[in-house]
Amino acid sequence: MRYLIFLALFVSPPLGSILNAAEVCYLSWQNDPTTTMTIRWLTDLKTTSDEIEIKKPQEESWKKVAGTHKALPYDAPHFLHTVEATALEPDTSYQFRLPGETETHLFRTMPATLTKPVRFASGGDAYHDTVEPFEEMCKKIASYSPRFILLGGDIAYSVHTKRSGDDKFDRWFTFLQSWTRCMKDSDGNMIPILTAIGNHEVKGYYNQTPDQAKFYYSFFGPNSYKQLLFGKYLALTILDSNHTHPIAGEQTTWLQQSLRTAYSYPHRFAVYHVPAYPSVRYFRIRESCAIRKHWVPLFERYSVQAVFENHEHAYKRTHPLVKDEEHPDGVVYFGDGSWGVKPRPPKKAWRTSYLAKTESARQFLLVELTNENRTFTATDITGKTIDSYSQKVAPPEKF
Ligand SMILES: [Fe+2]
Repeated sequence: MRYLIFLALFVSPPLGSILNAAEVCYLSWQNDPTTTMTIRWLTDLKTTSDEIEIKKPQEESWKKVAGTHKALPYDAPHFLHTVEATALEPDTSYQFRLPGETETHLFRTMPATLTKPVRFASGGDAYHDTVEPFEEMCKKIASYSPRFILLGGDIAYSVHTKRSGDDKFDRWFTFLQSWTRCMKDSDGNMIPILTAIGNHEVKGYYNQTPDQAKFYYSFFGPNSYKQLLFGKYLALTILDSNHTHPIAGEQTTWLQQSLRTAYSYPHRFAVYHVPAYPSVRYFRIRESCAIRKHWVPLFERYSVQAVFENHEHAYKRTHPLVKDEEHPDGVVYFGDGSWGVKPRPPKKAWRTSYLAKTESARQFLLVELTNENRTFTATDITGKTIDSYSQKVAPPEKF
């Protein structure tokens, strides 16, 4: 018996080391979401081919696009391959095939204009304990066919405690496998992911360097704060709430420049992990104070309309806020990260000056944009609407 256990331990391959490429394959953007698509996939360490084939469904011939691959950190037994398809047409379907595979995958680029409504989903605190609640929520979100998903940190809980500090590859692998399997829209298109970094991606949680979040940076690119511009209609600013870059200083200077750029876009949003306006924890925790001091005045000055926060494991919507107080032209903060977690009891909205609505629920936010309106619908795991909020698009005043 002992011999058999020994044999099973040493003859079994390491987790995920035998896989076909399509088992982990996901989409994101490094550049213009209307004309590019970044495709990433995992293989074993023998597979070095990076060239995908791509075409529109109605075209006969495939076009080859070359990419790169790199080994993952901490001797994880895989290559991560990356291809960026460029010069694509907006709002257009594409098929692609990974090297050596016959299976065809589908995606659709983002539209360049808002002639039709555009819908995306936002959520955070995803694969927390077991994979089932995470996957259940993935399927629920995918059933609304969002054009992309904004995942605001605490993605795979690969670093589970502040002290032990291991960044566990098996958590990332399971997360990516589930994502690959579940995140397809009703037409079969793979749904791209955009992420913000959370404390559970980082050894030490706060005030660290990118070197302490090697898997996160491998899987999602070299920048934990960045801006994506969609056509002429949406400016999305992704920030790092003191996990691998400080809130004040360089990141805040960059934020001011980015929000200046965003100002000519009718829809202006920001996303990050630790909230400025918490629904569960204390108002005075370090990161929340720093965000209110350094970022919130910029959100207000440059008329960001909505901010997506996470980390608290409940639902919240604040009043429109200026200087922490309700104001008709203020910024609305949504949150608070309860994708795959057991929801916590939040503060009561009627007793908390900045909160308009809270609920203890596993939920995500659907955001729908048109030229005239933006609507935010918080939906729980059963598909029930737990909150709905809309704003009219108004031409911004000069700052
Ligand atoms: Fe968190």
